[in-house]
Amino acid sequence: MEFLKAASLRRLPTSKWSLTTRRQTWTCTSCLSSSSSSPRRFTTSLPRLSSTTDLPTKPYYVTTPIFYVNAAPHIGHMYSMTLADVLKRYQSVLHSRPAILLTGTDEHGMKIQQAASNKDMHPKQFCDETAEQFKELASTAQISYNRFIRTTDTDHIQAVEHFWFLLQEKGLIYESKHEGWYSVSDEAFYPESQIEKKMDAFTGEVFMASVESGSKVEWVEERNYHFRMTALRERLLGFYRENPEWVVPAKRMGDVVDWVRNHLTDLSISRPASRLSWGVRVPGDASQTIYVWVDALINYITAAGFPNWQPGRREVGGWPADVHVIGKDIVRFHCVYWPALLLALDLPMPKKVLTHAHWTMNRTKMSKSLGNVVNPMYVMNVHGADVLRFYLMFEGGIGNDADYNNDNLLVKHKKYLQGGVGNLVSRITRSKLWDLKEIISRSPRGRIEFPEDNLATLPAIVDKHMENLDPVSALRAIMEVTTQANALLSEIEPWRLKKSTTQEDHDLADEMVCLAAESLRVCGILLQPFLPTKADQLLDMLGVLPENRTFKNTELFSDTSYGVPIANPGKGREDSLFPALYQGLQAAEEKLRTVKKERKEAKKRQRKAQRGKEVDEWWKPEASGEQS
Ligand code: MSP
Repeated sequence: MEFLKAASLRRLPTSKWSLTTRRQTWTCTSCLSSSSSSPRRFTTSLPRLSSTTDLPTKPYYVTTPIFYVNAAPHIGHMYSMTLADVLKRYQSVLHSRPAILLTGTDEHGMKIQQAASNKDMHPKQFCDETAEQFKELASTAQISYNRFIRTTDTDHIQAVEHFWFLLQEKGLIYESKHEGWYSVSDEAFYPESQIEKKMDAFTGEVFMASVESGSKVEWVEERNYHFRMTALRERLLGFYRENPEWVVPAKRMGDVVDWVRNHLTDLSISRPASRLSWGVRVPGDASQTIYVWVDALINYITAAGFPNWQPGRREVGGWPADVHVIGKDIVRFHCVYWPALLLALDLPMPKKVLTHAHWTMNRTKMSKSLGNVVNPMYVMNVHGADVLRFYLMFEGGIGNDADYNNDNLLVKHKKYLQGGVGNLVSRITRSKLWDLKEIISRSPRGRIEFPEDNLATLPAIVDKHMENLDPVSALRAIMEVTTQANALLSEIEPWRLKKSTTQEDHDLADEMVCLAAESLRVCGILLQPFLPTKADQLLDMLGVLPENRTFKNTELFSDTSYGVPIANPGKGREDSLFPALYQGLQAAEEKLRTVKKERKEAKKRQRKAQRGKEVDEWWKPEASGEQS
């Protein structure tokens, strides 16, 4: 058979795919080498999925941390936001479940008061400006938030005051003298055992710092209010015991339990207004301002309607949250202080806390104070929101830190988006050699096999990862399937088979086209939470109807109605779903070159002028050292 001969000759040792039988059955070589099982065929039914059953009445509620407005947003903030957004969209878009996403800004406290004063601005005016930048980041990054809360919002201030009042009523607040080490940067007191001497590498200044965060601390002695947190120690430990998977990843739970067991003290929850005026005043005592972390944590329930919950209707507002997404640096506040405050008022606990690792720059934590930050707005202006979302979700760390690198972004884009999904969709939707609609309406199948982690099981795998709050692994699984589909397509070459004279070759080509289209359709549906614009565009190019884009539509061959593009699949490389990034890059590089050239020339001019001046001065007798 002509095709078979050509295929066998073409086989390369590096290929993941090979022709296994004379019956033209295609199998992944990695499946062949595994002794445990024979290669799996596509199955037309998917495993039953727990998360699709019993839709709850309570909306799915996910939160981001609220961001300090002392400086402009960076990639780390966008990472928290994007993780939360992917979790929300997964529920709302794929599982048609009502879902709420809360994000916003943390605007009170010493840190903001100082930042505003450094700029000689009124704190509120200062907050208004930076809060706007975070809002802009959220909309540019396509974060589908339902509310952007600001701790200066009136309903929030009322919620904080009410919360305080309830704590007081329960006898959990007392006044006493407080002394200890306070870090303005972390807005936290640290015990003596957690303090060390440090030297500033640049200035040589020696200062006291927190061992945990490295931030500078100052000794504070004052009278303020305390929250009787130690009274809740046993209840906290009991809660952790009963919910060992409350903190994700579980490895971060150890530190939480250790802290409560060995370091828990009562919490200082106010500062004299003479020192901290920018915040919510203690109800009934205007000489004190409520501690910024107590104020900030309450935002999660303010947005869910606290304290105006009607009996039996609390859950309508979303509380308890399904997931708090936070960075690993604020675990103690969310996993010790927050549950303690909730337990104190007998309020339900958030269901999970997803703690993510940090983005670093040359292996150093990106932070506003160090100034080694990447501006997400700049990256999105050059490459678009979906490309940055993809990079953050694909490379970002939940357990371990990830290093941000622009070259790596380009490499990943080229491999998975431009050369992966983008290439696949162009190959399938642009060819004049086949009628996609006609092939899909027949959905030919049966002779081509996919590797073990194949398309049919992908939705269940993705669902499991999302249930485990691991969008990074979910995205990697999707991208792996698109890579496999592309490789299979290159191996089988339906465009060549379509020119063969045998019906068998034509049938195999149709089957391959159908399989590639199904890979795109299923992956496109699953990609919607990650790449909201591009996934839509992809499904439009395939002609998948908007009402057929939910999780239940990911069953293979369940949709035979698509194939006529709703959006133009385009022509040529520049007109594709993921055009090469070098254009934007070239422009950026060009700009950089010009700036560098200008700087160099300016320096040259300056040096020349300086030399001229020196020569002039050298000739002047009064400028000579000997004369002076
Ligand atoms: N305002 C507090 C949070 C209060 S929530 C009730 C706060 N704000 S922050 O602006 O400093 O940080 C907000 C989030 O950004 C945190 O989850 C933090 O972990 C995250 N990130 C800050 N720098 C980061 C990286 N370099 N990488 C990833 N995320 C990081 O803390």
